Amino acid sequence: MSSENKFFSHGTLEKNVGWLIVATIIVVSIAGLVQIVPLFFQHTTTEPSPGVVPYTALRLAGRDIYQREGCVGCHSQQIRTLRSEVERYGPYSLAGESVFDRPFLWGSKRTGPDLARVGARYSDDWHRIHLRNPRDVVPESNMPGYPWLQKSAANASSIQSHMMAMRRLGVPYTDEMIAEAPKELEGKTEEDALIAYLQGLGVNRRYIMVDEVVVK
Ligand code: HEC
Repeated sequence: MSSENKFFSHGTLEKNVGWLIVATIIVVSIAGLVQIVPLFFQHTTTEPSPGVVPYTALRLAGRDIYQREGCVGCHSQQIRTLRSEVERYGPYSLAGESVFDRPFLWGSKRTGPDLARVGARYSDDWHRIHLRNPRDVVPESNMPGYPWLQKSAANASSIQSHMMAMRRLGVPYTDEMIAEAPKELEGKTEEDALIAYLQGLGVNRRYIMVDEVVVK
């Protein structure tokens, strides 16, 4: 039968690289859309998970420093649904936990551990020592030190425009939060901001999971 239908037989695709490319693109596009499009309509991926709130001004400033210093190059923030990951890092990450993250800092490289749930695991003082010279608390660490962060002031001048830009992207900052933002950064160093950011990572979700286990 295929010998009758010469134009679009399987043979045509195999022998003609142009058609093969076109057909591959069509098939891959459809397969991609089938995976991606439903996600836009699933509320669990577009609405914050319970307990997840927008970053405070201080934490948002800390997140900027995390990006600037390239922490994402060594640390992921995405716990996968594998048993080994959950046992090591805590409950796996949900899409709804990242709705206020722009850009996402999920990362893909783990020279150091995943940080998605590092919040509240250590004291602020531990982080201070660790950020200035990681070897002081973890002798075998190969993480670089960031001793200058304690000396530079958190950038209060751009925080309001940053928050307004985030609001345009859908983060529900109120006028009042934006007005108060520079005051929140007053007298804070970049180190303070970065630690505030780290201490909030994943803490809400951890408590929710505890409840779920209790209910079960
Ligand atoms: C060159 C890779 C590298 C870079 C860049 C890096 N880290 Fe690390 N980080 C590590 C390694 C390795 C460890 C594990 C050893 C240790 O605790 O120091 C670690 C550990 C940590 C821990 C403790 C995690 C835990 O669960 O014990 C935190 C918090 C952390 N890093 C934050 C940061 C921050 C914030 C930055 C950016 C300012 C950063 N790291 C940049 C490699 C890196």
